[in-house]
Amino acid sequence: MNILAFESSCDETAVAVVRDGRTVLSDAILSQADMHALYGGVVPEIASRKHVEAIAGLSDQALADAGITKKDVDAVAVTYAPGLIGAVLVGVSFAKSVAYALGVPLIPVHHIRGHIAANYLAFPDLEPPFLALAISGGNTLIVDVRDYTDMEILGATRDDAAGECFDKAARVLGLPYPGGKPMDELARQSSGGKYDLPRAHVDGAELDMSFSGLKTAVVNLAHNAEQKGEELDAAALARDFTRAVSDELVPRAMRAMELTGRKKLVAAGGVAANSVIRGDLEAACARAGVSLYLPPLRWCGDNGAMIGAQGYYEYLAGHTAGLDLNAWATMDLGTNM
Ligand code: KG4
Repeated sequence: MNILAFESSCDETAVAVVRDGRTVLSDAILSQADMHALYGGVVPEIASRKHVEAIAGLSDQALADAGITKKDVDAVAVTYAPGLIGAVLVGVSFAKSVAYALGVPLIPVHHIRGHIAANYLAFPDLEPPFLALAISGGNTLIVDVRDYTDMEILGATRDDAAGECFDKAARVLGLPYPGGKPMDELARQSSGGKYDLPRAHVDGAELDMSFSGLKTAVVNLAHNAEQKGEELDAAALARDFTRAVSDELVPRAMRAMELTGRKKLVAAGGVAANSVIRGDLEAACARAGVSLYLPPLRWCGDNGAMIGAQGYYEYLAGHTAGLDLNAWATMDLGTNM
């Protein structure tokens, strides 16, 4: 089954063709990051407008790269939530038009389910049940993936997402948007141990996380140094910051593994590209004797292929939508459409 899949929830327009949920025939993507970098973050209206400009051309490109024509498309999948609402609406509207014109089923896909499904592309033998640590620009979740479309959130950030925290910390260090990758590169230049940054604890919810205190601590450090005319050791701060984020994420993911007795841990989302976090996950999973699945870097960030992968399993579960499908800025990951 060939699924033409659309992703437009933030600042990447992405269209892919995925066969039977596991084989990527094409994966076209156009990032707007350079444009938003001028403003230090994503400007929602610009994101929507850029999606409008790009999406039809990328669809043609995805079909051409896959070596198929519109007649070979068996279904259309699209991110319908969560994300910047104007941006998601562009993908949903376009996908509906394509499904209508081709007379094929329309499959709504939750963005984070898509991130998790990127692992099905990278690891052909991976099947639920497993636990997922989904860490992106807008979400930080520990998810029990009982089956392809049966998921429950076990832990979540109470405030900022891990990626958002990376982006804000990077900004005060003068790094470009999006800040995760430059922070990662900077952090690799130091072994850290210079800045004492807070680790949060959420009373009564051992799997929940919080990043706003850490973000504020880095902002305050930078502002204090500026006021006093002192130089910050940016590489050490990047390293200590990353360690603090990892200390928030990795032990909780491992605790969730213990509590559920799952034997497989899957990482997902843009922050899963971080080298320190990847290393810490590898070490922790080796100690615990559980299997770790780390998607290759190109499938950590937003892409269309992951939507095609999850779309296939949503289709098999009967989760298709009518042409009255709407888009949502927020949506619980456990919701089936
Ligand atoms: O999954 P993603 O591409 O988009 C969302 O669905 O949100 O995640 C984007 C986030 C950004 O905050 C970006 O700074 C962060 O992932 N990111 C990283 C790295 N690469 C991207 N964070 C830490 N280390 C990285 N290497």
